[in-house]
Amino acid sequence: MPETNYIPINTFMVKILKVSAPGKIILSGEHAVVYGFPAIATAVDKRITIDRNGKIDSDLPIGSGLGSSAAFAVATSAFEINNLDLDEINKRAYEIERVYHGSPSGLDNSTVTYGGFLWYKKESNGNKTIKKIYVKAKLPKFYLLNSGKPDESTKEMVEMVAERYKKERRYTLGIFRGIENVTKGFLEFLTGDVEHNLGELMSENERLLEGLGVVSDKAKNIIRTIEKNGGYAKISGAGGRKLGSGMILIYHRDKDKLERLFEGESTTVTPVRLGENGVKIETE
Ligand code: PMV
Repeated sequence: MPETNYIPINTFMVKILKVSAPGKIILSGEHAVVYGFPAIATAVDKRITIDRNGKIDSDLPIGSGLGSSAAFAVATSAFEINNLDLDEINKRAYEIERVYHGSPSGLDNSTVTYGGFLWYKKESNGNKTIKKIYVKAKLPKFYLLNSGKPDESTKEMVEMVAERYKKERRYTLGIFRGIENVTKGFLEFLTGDVEHNLGELMSENERLLEGLGVVSDKAKNIIRTIEKNGGYAKISGAGGRKLGSGMILIYHRDKDKLERLFEGESTTVTPVRLGENGVKIETE
């Protein structure tokens, strides 16, 4: 990211007392991003807040694709350097993520650090292209529904896809190329350059992730119910095969109808705002 991201807010080395970092949703490109295909992710209006005494306040469920681990790593890194040098925070957070996730793409920590909507791509020379997307499209309301904590970790899901990539390279590459097209579609939709049907993009993305084998039956059932009732939905993040697949991102024009579909069930539909701020210093 450009140097302008450095906010010299802490020139006098005042100790930061409280930091918050957002959760994230991947609109398109999870898994494919590990293989050098582009992804688009965005910060959400659910955050983790950490204070200097180590007290943590979090709206982010752990291990459900909302980026709780990246948000924690980013907030902790801001404390460590005691300023908001975003590039430095992002670099440190990536190192922390590596300890837990093996070789993450860096998409999660970058989204949580910079906020907004990000276009993210690992280039073949190892460099990363990270660009903020300037959104001109009027965004509709989105919702989240938790399909349940996956039995598998992100690392295990990434390894499972790697196995498949080894054995069925042509098939897997075909899926990644399909995902790349959807990601480009999302970019055109967001910038307002080309008209796209947002719901169709989400459904297409979901179909490709199901083809990759990262969506469990439980999550598929939830998504089919939403689709049969006029909505569009996709899992977001690494997914899961055996139990839940983490958070489901939903677009539905009728909130009441959507809520009625899951009335009386343990999972509830929650509104979510996309394109929110990245890491920030909180004043008491
Ligand atoms: O941590 P999650 O569940 O949001 O998954 C991260 C996205 C992957 O593309 C599956 C992995 C990665 O490192 O980008």
